[in-house]
Amino acid sequence: MANFKTFFISQTLTLTLLFSTLVTATYHHNISPSLVRSREKLTHLHFYLHEIFTSEKPSNIVIDPPKVVASSPLPFGSQVVIEDPLTIGPDVKSKEIGKAQGFYLSATQRPGLELEIVMGMALTFLEGEFNGSSLSVLGRNKIFNEVRELPIIGGTGEFRFARGYILARTVKVDYHKGDATVEYNAYVYHYSSTSSSSHEIFNDGVQFMTDPILSKI
Ligand SMILES: *[C@@H]1O[C@H](CO)[C@@H](O)[C@H](O)[C@H]1NC(C)=O
Repeated sequence: MANFKTFFISQTLTLTLLFSTLVTATYHHNISPSLVRSREKLTHLHFYLHEIFTSEKPSNIVIDPPKVVASSPLPFGSQVVIEDPLTIGPDVKSKEIGKAQGFYLSATQRPGLELEIVMGMALTFLEGEFNGSSLSVLGRNKIFNEVRELPIIGGTGEFRFARGYILARTVKVDYHKGDATVEYNAYVYHYSSTSSSSHEIFNDGVQFMTDPILSKI
């Protein structure tokens, strides 16, 4: 009788726990950021970006040129799509270490050379430790200023949780063609992942992509 009672109580408890787990099933949970913070790195990257409008294979193309003819090389509303090579040195033929893919928009109505663009791009690296990792950049770029600052707002791979900034400086520009070489100094906080993502069963049985480091917390 006592055994049956114990059995009954334990079964009831199990059921109650199971029931409360099901009832509280949710799509989020809190995890401690401490392990990520302890792995945080600060990296400085230095490279050159090449904007090539005039070649058999331009790396910049202007789409939908605005109908309003303004006295500006890049009238308000111009949209440019880029897939620019990133190289280790200022020479376009120096070692290519990545590429910049994205767009920029002419976002000022002021005429003349007071160009202000808004750039959005992914800088993907194709060499060494950062091969396959990318940085997301979005911000305003007043391209005729000596040094411009662009925010780094995120990243992938080795650059997960990235945040930082870029100082961009034009080192060479051909005003007739529009081709330019820009020096980039990027300073970025990020944390490194040691291996690719794994799967974890969440409490309601749904599989989420999880990070190998975060899932150990
Ligand atoms: C970069 O990674 C890709 C894909 O994993 C690989 O094919 C390529 O050889 C790597 N490049 C270098 C320079 O390590």
